[in-house]
Amino acid sequence: MVKNIQKGFNKASNNYNYNGYIQKEIAKKLLNNIEITNNDRIVDLGSGTGIVWELLKNKPEIFLSVDFSNEMLFQHKNDSKIEKLCENFDNPKFWQYLEKWRPSKIISNSALQWSSNLALIFQNLNYFKKNSEIYLSIFTNGTFKELHQYLKIESPILSIKDVLKFADNFIYEIINYELEFENSADLLRYIRDSGVSGSLNIANLNLLLKLRRENLIKRISIEIVILKNIKTTNLYN
Ligand SMILES: C[S@@+](CC[C@H](N)C(=O)[O-])C[C@H]1O[C@@H](n2cnc3c(N)ncnc32)[C@H](O)[C@@H]1O
Repeated sequence: MVKNIQKGFNKASNNYNYNGYIQKEIAKKLLNNIEITNNDRIVDLGSGTGIVWELLKNKPEIFLSVDFSNEMLFQHKNDSKIEKLCENFDNPKFWQYLEKWRPSKIISNSALQWSSNLALIFQNLNYFKKNSEIYLSIFTNGTFKELHQYLKIESPILSIKDVLKFADNFIYEIINYELEFENSADLLRYIRDSGVSGSLNIANLNLLLKLRRENLIKRISIEIVILKNIKTTNLYN
């Protein structure tokens, strides 16, 4: 599954900036009250092409963009303040590296739903809570639910309830969007170019062809949970 997700994002990297507008809307909500100081050390988990970096009004002293897709990182803006790391955030070695890196803020927009072990990600995040502010947006299984129901397949991502089980002491907000397309072909193209077409690969081809031919779905839901933990006490004293 991880390989497929990685391949999906590698393929989508060229179109991602055009099609990632929902991710941009979510990132704006995620970052709306964030205060950046010159001394901040910010890590962006699953940074993609750098929407989070672009949206920060003040740029921090150092910004670590982490993504396991080299193609995505290649599209990411370069700057003397940006360090790029091609790494899987499910890899325990990455968290050891981050411990030494000492982030003051940990941000992740629209990426952690692809973790193969979200419980472990939150365990790792627990270690940082005292010293780092944490800002996360995570897609949940109401996303593309119309398509999943029609194709009779399970969403590959977790429910809001499951995500919240892991997220102790975070404040949260649930956000819902509905996207409307001219036709089902455009809708399927959007899903492919967003890099998250994994569930289409296991779908019944005849059902997909019928969907396209008969324009059966033109609206699709997106469901996201935003989580913040911004009560730090210690800042690495
Ligand atoms: C939907 S994109 C979001 C990108 C960016 N954060 C944004 O807001 O536009 C998800 C990103 O997470 C990356 N990703 C997914 N699983 C990952 C993993 N296990 N380790 C590192 N990066 C991962 C993908 O390569 C992709 O760039």
